[in-house]
Amino acid sequence: MKRIVILISGRGSNMESMMTTAAAERWSAQIAAVISNKPDAAGLGIARDAGIPTAVVNHRDYLDRMQFDAALAAAIDQYQPDLVVLAGFMRILTENFVNHFAGRLINIHPSLLPSFTGLDTHQRAIDAGVKFHGATVHFVTSELDHGPIIAQAVVPVHENDDAEALAARVLEKEHQIYPRAVRDLLEGRLVLKGGRVVSTEVH
Ligand code: GAR
Repeated sequence: MKRIVILISGRGSNMESMMTTAAAERWSAQIAAVISNKPDAAGLGIARDAGIPTAVVNHRDYLDRMQFDAALAAAIDQYQPDLVVLAGFMRILTENFVNHFAGRLINIHPSLLPSFTGLDTHQRAIDAGVKFHGATVHFVTSELDHGPIIAQAVVPVHENDDAEALAARVLEKEHQIYPRAVRDLLEGRLVLKGGRVVSTEVH
């Protein structure tokens, strides 16, 4: 059985949608653990209630990024995951960490990458006057919010949107594309080839 480790920092709604979809679709893969860098992350309670092992690796307990990332990698390695899923995990990761999990580390970002990397994506999309916004699932590389794109979803930006309304519209799509992307990767329907993600299905 394939194994997934999910990393969170907060609410955990993407983690929850992964859990719910995995159960509803009877995935043969297992969410082996949920790990947070924040002890008070609300998502930890949701995972615990579902009987999923949880762990906290608090970045405040470490002197620098290298030490934190080494401890985090060790915590993840215990579960020998096929896929490490960042779901609202709000830490910049070192090159060592990213290389250690190369090809197994994925993230969801609330914009249509390569537009709006970084924080505050919804307000920046509104300020830029774009007519479409969305979310991107991508492999993680050492360049922040870059890396081969696995899936994207598009939403319209309405003239009266504020960041909160737009975020909610995007989040609904995140909850759809992230579980689908994970399943497609685990089942080999999508593969990384020459730095791009391609479908293995016959067209
Ligand atoms: C999601 O919108 C996710 O795309 C974003 O944080 C939110 C987490 O929500 N991630 C990033 O901004 C990563 N740079 P959740 O905890 O409810 O899944």
